[in-house]
Amino acid sequence: MGFIEMHSHLLPGIDDGVASQEDSIAMLDAYALAGFTHIVATPHLYNPNVLTRVQDIRTTFAWFAQEAEQRGIQAELGSETFIGSTKEPKAIPFLHGFILVEVETMIEPMYLIKFVREQIDQGRAVILAHIERYRWMSPTHPLVHKLREQGVFFQSNCTAVHNGEVNQYLSRDLIDIIAGDNHGNPEVPALLAQTLTEHPRVLSIMNRLFAIA
Ligand SMILES: [Fe+2]
Repeated sequence: MGFIEMHSHLLPGIDDGVASQEDSIAMLDAYALAGFTHIVATPHLYNPNVLTRVQDIRTTFAWFAQEAEQRGIQAELGSETFIGSTKEPKAIPFLHGFILVEVETMIEPMYLIKFVREQIDQGRAVILAHIERYRWMSPTHPLVHKLREQGVFFQSNCTAVHNGEVNQYLSRDLIDIIAGDNHGNPEVPALLAQTLTEHPRVLSIMNRLFAIA
């Protein structure tokens, strides 16, 4: 039973993550070495600052999954979908219907409540990515309360956990998932394994949610 990385940009040449197959393979080796058995590839969709080669996602993922399997890692395809002004943005659900979403960092995303409601009506579970990035957000913000009532899961990046940036969320049990959001940093797999080990409450939530343990 190993760890899961559920937020990553490791499909070569697809978004602003790893650029080459060699880099992608080096990342897979590093994850295998750090004890990971599952990786969800979550390329950006609709992010206004990132160009994603959407048409190549599935073929590149097929290559990635095969390379992962050779290293004892099960790969899943998901997406990190930017929820903004795009009408009816698409997300790729992974592991029993989870979707990963990101929003504007500076402006409170009022449209998020409606989007989440629609997704839940379709039987999906919503994960809000890297909550430490949102300047509008705080543990006591009314929108945080509403999102929790809706059942939204909160994800934090291992770097933010490691440097103490999300302590105020962790101490209130507002972090459900720790992930790497790895764009090609070879130090992330070991750091993610370390932070997961240091936060057994989060690790047990993740194992229950993703049913990999
Ligand atoms: Fe990401």
